[in-house]
Amino acid sequence: MVLSMDRWAGKVAVVTGASSGIGAAVALRLAEQGLRVAALARRKDRLEELAKKISSKEGKIHPIKADVSKEEDVLNAFKWIKQNLGPVQVLVNNAGIGGNGSLLNGDADDWADVFRVNVLGLCVATREAVKSMRENHVDGHIIHINSICGHQIFNFPESSVYPASKYAVTALAETLRVELNALKLKIKITSLSPGAVDTEIILQNLKKILEEKQILDSEDIADAIVYVLSTPPHVQIQELTIRPVVEAL
Ligand SMILES: NC(=O)c1ccc[n+]([C@@H]2O[C@H](COP(=O)([O-])OP(=O)(O)OC[C@H]3O[C@@H](n4cnc5c(N)ncnc54)[C@H](OP(=O)(O)O)[C@@H]3O)[C@@H](O)[C@H]2O)c1
Repeated sequence: MVLSMDRWAGKVAVVTGASSGIGAAVALRLAEQGLRVAALARRKDRLEELAKKISSKEGKIHPIKADVSKEEDVLNAFKWIKQNLGPVQVLVNNAGIGGNGSLLNGDADDWADVFRVNVLGLCVATREAVKSMRENHVDGHIIHINSICGHQIFNFPESSVYPASKYAVTALAETLRVELNALKLKIKITSLSPGAVDTEIILQNLKKILEEKQILDSEDIADAIVYVLSTPPHVQIQELTIRPVVEAL
């Protein structure tokens, strides 16, 4: 298998939740690889800081303020991308929030927020990206940032509905693959499932548990994204799980 990022040079990638952690590392890496990256998040100042870090001549980061839990924000973002950047070739559905409390004492509004961001935001962005790809006959690539929590339940403090939202992502990736196949579209869908990564989402109490362990960096996940995007057009990495070598949990 010959791996190459050449076909993506100058093309448009959308990365949600690009203001910190994995999303920031991925947006930066794709721009360094020559892609024009539409970077979405609520903290636009962070996106603007990130955009200044690009050293590539071809690649660029375009900051877009958007709350993915609001359908209108996502629609406006894709409208802006269509008018200003052109057809979407890559979507990295990365925006995500953790749980808050437990199932036994949690708050229904907090639970709904997790599903609005981790599940519904991902669905709306996916629908809009595939629409753009189909209108423009693009054999694009959708990547869902899932989690090992989307495949297995751990004794996480305060995870509440987070694992359920990631199990939904596992189902959504496979449902999308089936729908794309039924239409004979050559758009790829990858579910990428990291173990513990050192980012802002890791709760303070979990940080203490992980303190002694060497967990993953956001750059490790950016490497994995480059790998899945580099595969030849007929090869689809359906699921990629990345864990620290010494199990953190
Ligand atoms: N860190 C880990 O151990 C780990 C492991 C497995 C999977 N993951 C997954 O990796 C993804 C990225 O998380 P991370 O670890 O990099 O954590 P992070 O540093 O907290 O990043 C989360 C990102 O999501 C964005 N976001 C949150 N709510 C949003 C909303 N309503 N609209 C738009 N953007 C929103 C945040 O931006 P704003 O706040 O600026 O909007 C931020 O850029 C998540 O899907 C997470 O579930 C993380």
